[in-house]
Amino acid sequence: MTTVDTRAVHAGRADLAALGVHVPPIDLSTTNPLPGVVDGGHAYETLAGGGPLPPGATAVYQRLWNPTVARFETALADLEGTTDAVAFASGMAALTATLLAVTRDGRRHVVAVRPLYGGTDHVLATGLLGTTVTWAHPDQVAAAVRPDTALVVAETPANPTLDLVDIAALATAAGDVPLLVDNTVATPVLQQPTRHGATLVLHSATKSIGGHGDVLAGVVACDADWAARLRQVRALTGAVLHPLGGYLLHRGLQTLPLRVRAQQAGAEKIAGWLADHPAVTRVHHPSLHDPAGLVGRQMSGPGSLLAFEVRGGIRAATAVADACQLITHAVSLGGVDTLVQHPASLTHRPVEGDARPAAGLLRISVGLEDPEDLRLDLARALAALG
Ligand SMILES: Cc1ncc(COP(=O)(O)O)c(C=O)c1O
Repeated sequence: MTTVDTRAVHAGRADLAALGVHVPPIDLSTTNPLPGVVDGGHAYETLAGGGPLPPGATAVYQRLWNPTVARFETALADLEGTTDAVAFASGMAALTATLLAVTRDGRRHVVAVRPLYGGTDHVLATGLLGTTVTWAHPDQVAAAVRPDTALVVAETPANPTLDLVDIAALATAAGDVPLLVDNTVATPVLQQPTRHGATLVLHSATKSIGGHGDVLAGVVACDADWAARLRQVRALTGAVLHPLGGYLLHRGLQTLPLRVRAQQAGAEKIAGWLADHPAVTRVHHPSLHDPAGLVGRQMSGPGSLLAFEVRGGIRAATAVADACQLITHAVSLGGVDTLVQHPASLTHRPVEGDARPAAGLLRISVGLEDPEDLRLDLARALAALG
């Protein structure tokens, strides 16, 4: 099998030569001319029910199927090692579609391992979609699973503390219950959760997959049965990805391995440097903290996201974020430019009580700048603490 670098460049492009083009065409049609009432009706029924576009059939309507988005899905599935992938308008649209798909048969209980992205935590904690949740440490998941459990949810590395979860152990604990792993932080370059037993792999494609901060998107990689359920939810809720977004994400995949490794190398340097800084009490990065030895076994590298805690709580963290000049104070992660943000005030603000990140914790998504320039910016910002 070819490596991820090669597949990232070529995946989802098998039909291009026959079309006589070198890059994927962007099909913006919202509707498609139909061959006839009977054939059109059959295609509609198949697609609205979540089926893939039958060979030779005409697409009917963009909410049901779009070739530009489908090429991105094929490519992402290839990188994740799954047969299928289903793209959505955002990572949260992908998550909520998954919750609707798994609760379709009436089971409404979710077991979730914290920490999770704040939006994921929020939708589960509020029960907005009619689910109930049991928060469980990975060791408690088997005991937390009940006959009405529809899904086990985890994120590894977790946003924002970069805790790692053993996916294979979690899959065993989940038993017959589908396991959803949010792979946004690792990307398929560093980790393919289905190889370790995950059922569904979620990405906020807004992050590393797009990589340039200009596409909001989500995607779930899975088998054909789950893809059919997810496509049905997508068709009926309308949380579709725009074809232009699908095109940009497909293009983004081609440089994903290069970007991930370069950003990861920068993050390792910054994490090591921060660990020795007197104003920093703790650095969170899998290169420094991996008690179960999952880097190298489950994940091929520690990734480009890190967090650190400063002495002095929220006031000190605010001063550092404000003092950064090269590094932009903004939410999101995985892009080509370095971002810093304060999770307790922003991305993880809705998280309740003890589960909320520490007040003095800042998260940094390391981009492609020279790590030495980033170090100098952080050194100046930390010096502001006196
Ligand atoms: C790990 C993770 N999962 C899911 C999401 C939600 O994705 P989106 O913002 O694309 O809806 C985010 C967003 O920050 C995230 O960081």
